Amino acid sequence: MTTFVGIGMTGMLLPCVMQILAHDQLLDVVLVSRRAPDLRGLSVKDRTRVRHLPCDYADPEQRKHCACELAKLTGVELVIAWVHSNAPHALEELLEHVDFCNDAAVLQVFGSAASRPESNAFYRDHDALFSDDKRFLYQKVVLGFEVSSGRSRWLTHSEISGGVFKAWQSGSSHVVVGVVEPWSSRP
Ligand SMILES: NC(=O)c1ccc[n+]([C@@H]2O[C@H](COP(=O)([O-])OP(=O)(O)OC[C@H]3O[C@@H](n4cnc5c(N)ncnc54)[C@H](OP(=O)(O)O)[C@@H]3O)[C@@H](O)[C@H]2O)c1
Repeated sequence: MTTFVGIGMTGMLLPCVMQILAHDQLLDVVLVSRRAPDLRGLSVKDRTRVRHLPCDYADPEQRKHCACELAKLTGVELVIAWVHSNAPHALEELLEHVDFCNDAAVLQVFGSAASRPESNAFYRDHDALFSDDKRFLYQKVVLGFEVSSGRSRWLTHSEISGGVFKAWQSGSSHVVVGVVEPWSSRP
């Protein structure tokens, strides 16, 4: 058994967790968030594969405790993180002592502003920090928007979850879900 750690995946990204559980029956899942996830959509068997690790990642003490718990896991194969920019160092600290497998991947999801790295320090800092990290492949996923018939809209939760799952499968280091150009067309 290997482990998938989902940070901030109990909201719009929960369907992506479910897709990953269905896709790889040998992965156990640890979900980091403040509140327990709603797992009613899962079979009883799959629910036993999911553990919730309560943590407010914006709180330094809770973050330290969570990092210790994550360090106890063996064989972390995948981390997917959707972390708000009010906790810019959270991901770095949470992953510091993680025991990654060979061929591990860390996929970080960013909002559309990350498509403008020159003005987005949150994206730039993580890119500089993780792109050359030898412990894992770092994959960046930028959430864009949709444009059709001259109208634009933000992505639905289903499009976001499906796009993040596909991004993981692609193994690409940079994926945009939807579009970010023309930037002036964003909703
Ligand atoms: N380009 C785009 O299309 C785009 C980009 C970004 C966002 N959005 C939209 O923005 C909406 C809001 O995004 P959202 O991030 O609020 O929704 P969300 O993904 O539904 O929820 C945020 C996730 O992060 C966790 N979280 C938040 N703060 C945390 C903390 N301090 N410590 C630990 N875990 C924390 C939440 O769990 P807990 O609350 O239990 O901690 C939850 O798992 C979404 O509905 C989406 O449609 C769209």
